[in-house]
Amino acid sequence: MPPNPTILVIDDEEVVLDACTQVLASGSCQVCTAGNGAEGLLRLEEVQPDLVFVDLKMPGLSGLEVLEKIRAKHPRMVVIVITGYATVSSAIEAMKKGAFDFLPKPFTPDELRLIARRGLEHHRLVQQTLSLRREQEMLRENFAAIVSHELKSPLGALQQNLYVLVAELDEQLSPDQQQRFARLQTRLEDLLKLIHSWLRVFSVDINKLKETFQPTALAEVVAKAVESVQPHATRKGISIEPTVTEPLPLVNGDAGSLAEVVVNLLNNAVKYSFPDRPIQVRADAANGQVRIAVTDRGVGIAKEDLPHLFQDFARGHTQPEGVSGCGLGLAISRRIAEVHGGSISAASEPGQGSTFTLSLPAVAAAADSPPSPNSERKV
Ligand SMILES: Nc1ncnc2c1ncn2[C@@H]1O[C@H](COP(=O)(O)OP(=O)(O)OP(=O)(O)O)[C@@H](O)[C@H]1O
Ligand SMILES: [Mg+2]
Repeated sequence: MPPNPTILVIDDEEVVLDACTQVLASGSCQVCTAGNGAEGLLRLEEVQPDLVFVDLKMPGLSGLEVLEKIRAKHPRMVVIVITGYATVSSAIEAMKKGAFDFLPKPFTPDELRLIARRGLEHHRLVQQTLSLRREQEMLRENFAAIVSHELKSPLGALQQNLYVLVAELDEQLSPDQQQRFARLQTRLEDLLKLIHSWLRVFSVDINKLKETFQPTALAEVVAKAVESVQPHATRKGISIEPTVTEPLPLVNGDAGSLAEVVVNLLNNAVKYSFPDRPIQVRADAANGQVRIAVTDRGVGIAKEDLPHLFQDFARGHTQPEGVSGCGLGLAISRRIAEVHGGSISAASEPGQGSTFTLSLPAVAAAADSPPSPNSERKV
């Protein structure tokens, strides 16, 4: 309960107002009263109560009308309706309109105290949830700001200086020293990549992407993504086999971010797979959606992990030895898919492999589609 809660009681019966004042004020509550609906609404704005009791049957503005007006202006205000036995059905209607509970007349002091305590507890929980949500938002924003200003810039400068230093010292460095510098550069690049990922997750600005949306051909997106992951796959002895089923409609989107999604899916497919097991990338269209499916024949995903993989920092239980990651790739990919009005899903058989499918709403038929429908083309 809030420390000194304020309760507003709106009722046209003097005797009810007196009884409520006596019973509730004997706790640590402040009780304000109003003899009709219009006065009640004025008092409500003045005192901003933590809980409101309102009689359903009053001359002038009825309790239901008062409830509606309160809910319209203060949707989180906790309102309990007081009702006679004859009007239980309207009490139910009031509950449907957002009343927290109803108190039938006549009521005992204990019944009044009990329902008031429950109403105030509900109010406290609502306020707590709101303030937690606000805190979370602030944390997100602050985190993004701290990471970008306090870490990203100095690390970027460090990286630049390192490049210059290595270039200047080139001749004088022993092979061992060159290797150490190379490792230093790789670690710095990893760190900057990680910061970039964090910023993508925590910045609330993903919606800004929409400003750059334009009709985009996914065949090109797939080709770019494959090109960027290919060296990594080749090092692991894995081939990537893309197939585009034409005609492939365009989607409205940001090509760079969509390529990032496909790169994330491909990187995972390589990371969680084995040498000599090819990865398939299929792009096709069905039911107004364009889909890109990445299928591997790797370690697969445990059933209990599947529903959580797209959450921030989530990692599955079937991690091959020596594989590292921070559990952000899929979370970022989901956000990018959703900002495009699309979705991303996973299906897997542990030990057999996984398929991740990105679905996006199609906007138009591709201008350069070949004449024969549903012809397949390797990219
Ligand atoms: N193709 C896949 N096969 C098996 N497991 C996968 C696959 N893709 C994702 N996972 C599981 O989902 C988890 C989350 O993937 P996600 O890409 O978000 O993070 P990550 O790969 O661990 O790290 P990073 O943020 O560096 O990408 C992984 O840790 C892994 O357990
Ligand atoms: Mg990943």
